[in-house]
Amino acid sequence: MISCNSLALRFSESSSENKFEVLDQTLLPHEEKWLVIESTEQMIEAIKMLRVRGAPLIGVAAALQVAQAALQGFTKTELLKKAQALYEARPTAVNLMNCIDRMKAVIETGADKNKILQTAVDIFNEDVQLCDRIATFGAELIQDGDQILTHCNTGGLATVGVGTALGVILKAHQQGKKIHVWVDETRPLLQGGRLTTWELQKHKIPYTLITDNMAAHLMSEGKISKAIVGSDRIAQNGDFANKIGTYSVAVNCKFHNIPFYVAAPFTTVDFNCVSGKHIPIEQRAASEVISTWAPKDSPVYNPSFDVTPATLTTGWIMDTGVFNHKNIEQGVFRK
Ligand code: MRU
Repeated sequence: MISCNSLALRFSESSSENKFEVLDQTLLPHEEKWLVIESTEQMIEAIKMLRVRGAPLIGVAAALQVAQAALQGFTKTELLKKAQALYEARPTAVNLMNCIDRMKAVIETGADKNKILQTAVDIFNEDVQLCDRIATFGAELIQDGDQILTHCNTGGLATVGVGTALGVILKAHQQGKKIHVWVDETRPLLQGGRLTTWELQKHKIPYTLITDNMAAHLMSEGKISKAIVGSDRIAQNGDFANKIGTYSVAVNCKFHNIPFYVAAPFTTVDFNCVSGKHIPIEQRAASEVISTWAPKDSPVYNPSFDVTPATLTTGWIMDTGVFNHKNIEQGVFRK
């Protein structure tokens, strides 16, 4: 029996049963509903609708779905087609492309279903370990009494491990450091307000929820000592894409002289991308911004991510250590 379980997905394979379920994150925090995944189309829908979301999680979930399709007996050509469709489900998080490239590579060799499954399981296990290492390195930067601002959701719901930025926060809390987390609600889909709060409550970590436009005010009052965020794609020069609103957090930190860190595994680095200018930014539906309260026909611009330039970033907390500007210039994110 092989099983891969995390806060956001459950996958099991045995001679008697194959089961794949994902937690529908659009319903959190009020409802914990698990969706059964039986096809590539279902997984693509779940990724596009953000039922399954967060850069590392969508990569791992897509890889497991390719493995599920292999177990269902699809041919090599069919599997490659399905893998490509998953690859294209969302454009910004390079983890999705990196994981699918690994799945395609093993399928291309003509590997049997067990080998394909093992590749997806390896990807799952690696993400757990990457998160643990990020948390360990990042927690060293956290001091007793820190007031930490975070944006979006970067925890167990966004990865299959303890998370990236939120994993750092969790580790520091487990080390007994007295910290307080300021949670940006993260307009328009409220990953901070709905998901990060849900995770922090589970871990009993003290937090306060704020709307995104409050952070600068808090900084001016000296209420924030550090900001830590995740990433969907890091370019060679250290620029990185993350949830829309991250760039303003970084600008505000710079103005107030507050350290601003990004935490991510090396699976989030795009070694082919020279700078943030080349990162594709997902545009999403107007309805997400209009919600229930704006005129239904309002013109809307809804980029899901923005790019924070390396110049605004204090440090890159990766699974192999914490990097500074000099390390980036020396080429840690270059091939
Ligand atoms: O649109 P989402 O919810 O998938 O966006 C997620 C983020 O922007 C996260 O900060 C990022 O994926 C890092 S998660 C460890």
